[in-house]
Amino acid sequence: MHVKHLTLSNFRNYQTVELALNQGINLLVGKNGQGKTNLAEAIFYAATLSSHRVSGYLPLIKQGESKAIIRILARFDDRENLLELELNTQGSNRARINKSDATRVRDVLGYVNAVIFSPEDLDIVKRDPSNRRAFIDELIVQLTPRMAGVYSDYERVLKQRNTLLKSARNIPAGSSSLSTLDSWDQSLVRIGSEIISARFDITARLSPHLQEAYSAIADEKNDPSVKLRSSLLSNDLESETSVEFLESGNREEIENLFQERLKEVRTKELERGVTLVGPHRDDLLLLLGTLPAKGYISHGESWSYALALKLASAELIRKEARAGDPVLILDDVFAELDSTRRSRLAALVSHNEQVIITAAVAEDVPSELSATRFYVKAGALEVSDD
Ligand SMILES: Nc1ncnc2c1ncn2[C@@H]1O[C@H](COP(=O)(O)OP(=O)(O)OP(=O)(O)O)[C@@H](O)[C@H]1O
Ligand SMILES: [Mg+2]
Repeated sequence: MHVKHLTLSNFRNYQTVELALNQGINLLVGKNGQGKTNLAEAIFYAATLSSHRVSGYLPLIKQGESKAIIRILARFDDRENLLELELNTQGSNRARINKSDATRVRDVLGYVNAVIFSPEDLDIVKRDPSNRRAFIDELIVQLTPRMAGVYSDYERVLKQRNTLLKSARNIPAGSSSLSTLDSWDQSLVRIGSEIISARFDITARLSPHLQEAYSAIADEKNDPSVKLRSSLLSNDLESETSVEFLESGNREEIENLFQERLKEVRTKELERGVTLVGPHRDDLLLLLGTLPAKGYISHGESWSYALALKLASAELIRKEARAGDPVLILDDVFAELDSTRRSRLAALVSHNEQVIITAAVAEDVPSELSATRFYVKAGALEVSDD
């Protein structure tokens, strides 16, 4: 699929902007802080209902305004769909699909697919588990839009269970408040197991693409692999060397394991007032050969790894998603890559149905990716074909 047209109103630093994008390669050029990433972010938001930079949507609304609009005309084969998202500081957000009100905002998922690669993606490799969970969960939601509902249900159950745990801290065993906890456990286990199983499944499907992408970018064929480290098996997720990987994605097995673990940690949970096991505590272990990527591999290898994860995601979406080829967004990456990886990346992406590249310096982008240039300056655009 590709995005034909993007209209923003009161989004980030844009009051209003119209961007008519081409199939193939589009280059957004401009000095720092002018609004290049903001354009990319708007497209990514329509694909995932999440930003690659912040959690929550309030920062996307222009400062001082109460409502932001993202409107996207997306084309897949010979079909066009007009999507509109309205983000509100007060009251709930709304969505329209082909000018009709959508029942739920998340109904817009599945029309636009996008994979964004930016310097922040190094965090997936180098930093804490929340970055890896966000990576895998965004991919799951794009491939299976229905899962967006499962994630928000889980968030809700987790929040309520935590509130209950906090308030039950001083309540003696056997009281009625603890039996309420049991019923929350049922929901937590049912919904949480669906998420864990989906993560297991997607990790397996991503793996062959990851290996392929990594060896296309890096010379050393160091064999990257991904495993799911689950809090259902170990509470010691801080340790890089613990080998508590989930070996099966079977829902029933996961549910049983989850149930057992909750019993084991119940006392501790009541002491601490938080839910200690579940998908919100899980992690992906990224390996390069036998070494964990985090804390072991070099800076350059981390770049290759992060890039390979994103290219592999794009490949998986291309193969499996309803709308086909995702829009590939390369946000500020060419300036950070050496010339070998620049030209390898250029070769890998040049045939994608649509690519959006942002750069402060156009010369950092390899010449084989020559394209329509959009000059971004202080929240406004100029176009030039060269
Ligand atoms: N909610 C908001 N309201 C108003 N302005 C905002 C809001 N959010 C971000 N901005 C402004 O948008 C500007 C442009 O941000 P953006 O990240 O798109 O820049 P960029 O062109 O990608 O720059 P760089 O080359 O440094 O990555 C920033 O100066 C920021 O202050
Ligand atoms: Mg930027």
